[in-house]
Amino acid sequence: MLERSHELLDRRTAIQLALASGLVTSLGGATVVFAADALLHRRIPSSGERLPVIGVGTNNYSPTTPEERAARRVVLERLTGSGLRVIDTAPLYRESERVIGELLAEIGNRPQAFLATKVTAPNKTREEGIASMEESMRRLQTDFIELMQVHNLIGTDVLLPLIREWVAQKRVRYVGVTTSRDEQYPEIVRLMRSESLDFIQVDYSLGNRGAAEQILPLAAERGIAVLINLPFGGRRDGNLFARVRGQSLPSWAADFDARSWGQFLLKYVLSHPAVTCAIPGMTKIANLEDNLGAAQGRLPDTAMRQRMEEFWDSLPG
Ligand SMILES: NC(=O)c1ccc[n+]([C@@H]2O[C@H](COP(=O)([O-])OP(=O)(O)OC[C@H]3O[C@@H](n4cnc5c(N)ncnc54)[C@H](OP(=O)(O)O)[C@@H]3O)[C@@H](O)[C@H]2O)c1
Repeated sequence: MLERSHELLDRRTAIQLALASGLVTSLGGATVVFAADALLHRRIPSSGERLPVIGVGTNNYSPTTPEERAARRVVLERLTGSGLRVIDTAPLYRESERVIGELLAEIGNRPQAFLATKVTAPNKTREEGIASMEESMRRLQTDFIELMQVHNLIGTDVLLPLIREWVAQKRVRYVGVTTSRDEQYPEIVRLMRSESLDFIQVDYSLGNRGAAEQILPLAAERGIAVLINLPFGGRRDGNLFARVRGQSLPSWAADFDARSWGQFLLKYVLSHPAVTCAIPGMTKIANLEDNLGAAQGRLPDTAMRQRMEEFWDSLPG
């Protein structure tokens, strides 16, 4: 309660300051405050901690050449200075955890990072869960992980209590679960109702809006932070960018400060009030710079979101 009143005071003061400078917008009842050149942040409901609304997805962080490794290093170096913090990885992303651990150690910006990794136990055993988390710590070169998520909901009965033990030991701060598959939606909804979760991670984009039907409203109701995976529909050739290739942005995208298709797509995701942070995969610095723009300026309001959906649904293909 005390924490909550601090939060409200902080929020009220921020809104007054923002009103004074004209830097406030409202969407669907939620007020979002931003400052020029500063990144939009959202609070983790269970703690009040603020996170920048864009993070780095790293399922393609297994470089095979020095040049590819150098490109990923440039992306992670840019965390410093840009204000980005969240890095989402997983043991199943081949070399991703090891590469991130090495690069953050080389760069020296581990303290700024909010590491979100996942626990995997193919046979759903506690021993596998412990081995997975110990190995993540070793590969990430850390003795503390900000967010531990049960990957694709596999073994939650065994793994959620285990993660909570690590929270009690202060080896992990937040507990979460992830999915990116419609067929798992009933199960994630069940867990959101029955478990105490700090975070969920789910797929959501302008081209894939199923999570908005039940999962995102439930997250808001239950006070669960939400990471969004696949905001561009994934790395495959037929992702959302393919649908608009060669097309100009509609002129009204300027009304919410979108200057690229990447910003257009991310601002749709971020303008859902239940969303805490979107984690687009980024291996190129140009994409990171572009995506930073989505965390600045205005966001679409409810009417604009509807317009974006109608626009998207009217596209050929
Ligand atoms: N169940 C799960 O737990 C689960 C499932 C799927 C994904 N995830 C997480 O979600 C993250 C995101 O998913 P994803 O990477 O598969 O798909 P995504 O974020 O939808 O798309 C990533 C693709 O978009 C490109 N891109 C990024 N910013 C761009 C921009 N501004 N303009 C044009 N292209 C841009 C990336 O290129 P470059 O890489 O070349 O920069 C990459 O090819 C993953 O990295 C992972 O961390 C979790």
